[in-house]
Amino acid sequence: MRIDNPKVTAAFEELGVAYRPNERMADWTSLGVGGPSDLLQIANFSALPELISLLDEQGVPWRFFGGGTNVLIPDRELPYVVLQLAPSRRDIEFGPGEAYVSAATELGRTVMECAKRDLGGMEGLIGVPGTVGGALRMNAGAYGTQIGSYVRAILLYRAAKRQIETLAGNEMHFEYRHSSFGPDDIMLSVRLELLAKPYREILGGIQVCNEKRRASQPLNEKSAGCIFKNPPGASAGKMIDELGLKGHRIGGAVVSERHANFFINRFGATAGDLLALIDDVRDRVRKSFGFELEEEVIVWRA
Ligand code: EPU
Repeated sequence: MRIDNPKVTAAFEELGVAYRPNERMADWTSLGVGGPSDLLQIANFSALPELISLLDEQGVPWRFFGGGTNVLIPDRELPYVVLQLAPSRRDIEFGPGEAYVSAATELGRTVMECAKRDLGGMEGLIGVPGTVGGALRMNAGAYGTQIGSYVRAILLYRAAKRQIETLAGNEMHFEYRHSSFGPDDIMLSVRLELLAKPYREILGGIQVCNEKRRASQPLNEKSAGCIFKNPPGASAGKMIDELGLKGHRIGGAVVSERHANFFINRFGATAGDLLALIDDVRDRVRKSFGFELEEEVIVWRA
């Protein structure tokens, strides 16, 4: 969506919002698909309530976007503007046994910075791409670790109530690839309580996870990580593999030969190609195994 009103775009500057008109969202996503829209990058999250009030007053719909690594965006012009928190200069601070991290911070950088201060536990998350905010919303996990286990408090903007709130650990919950946050909740920062561990030990754990990931996942291709959640007691990747679907292609979208739950944009795929591949694989798994696979990737259907 394009904002054509110069008065509105001038107000962005006062709010410290970088206005990037007509961005191809394909350039901002790890899958390399996504249509055009105006992108608004917010340098200081305290400006968020005012920005959203301004957009609401002007009747401009908006949608929040994190790091772009777990999202499938349609190819057509989006019917809303896209908002994103810009990384801040002081994005991680430390207290005894704790880290205070801005939601726009890269998750991998967070794991490494914590390690340097002998704070561990999150080693398994090292290769998970994306931001801390996105990881919180999805309760990102890998190799037996999930971010939700370390969360002690979250600062978030609740668009439905139009206010910034702090939630303590007992006011939220995390499950496998799911959190209690709604679509109108925008993560701003988090307090993580970590485990005291020597740097070398943490580094050893990180290396093991990196090697496992390199051996089993297509890290050099355009993907959004695993496309489907694992159903309870089963593995989506194993089932897709057993159906002989590695290399299966629709348009430019291909089931990875390395890990069957990764769908790759290899030949200039459209979002439509990827969605068709998702539906096709889901149908085949349902018919053969009786499981209804649920998307792990967030699909912007509207
Ligand atoms: N397998 C196959 N063929 C394949 C892929 C997997 O037979 O093509 C088998 C493996 O040999 C293994 C089992 O399926 O016996 C499970 O595979 P894997 O260890 O790769 O884990 P996964 O369940 O497929 C999950 C997460 C990953 C995370 C890894 C490592 C989900 C949906 N996926 O994958 O997370 O990196 O474990 O902990 O929970 C993501 O969230 O995007 C993601 C990639």
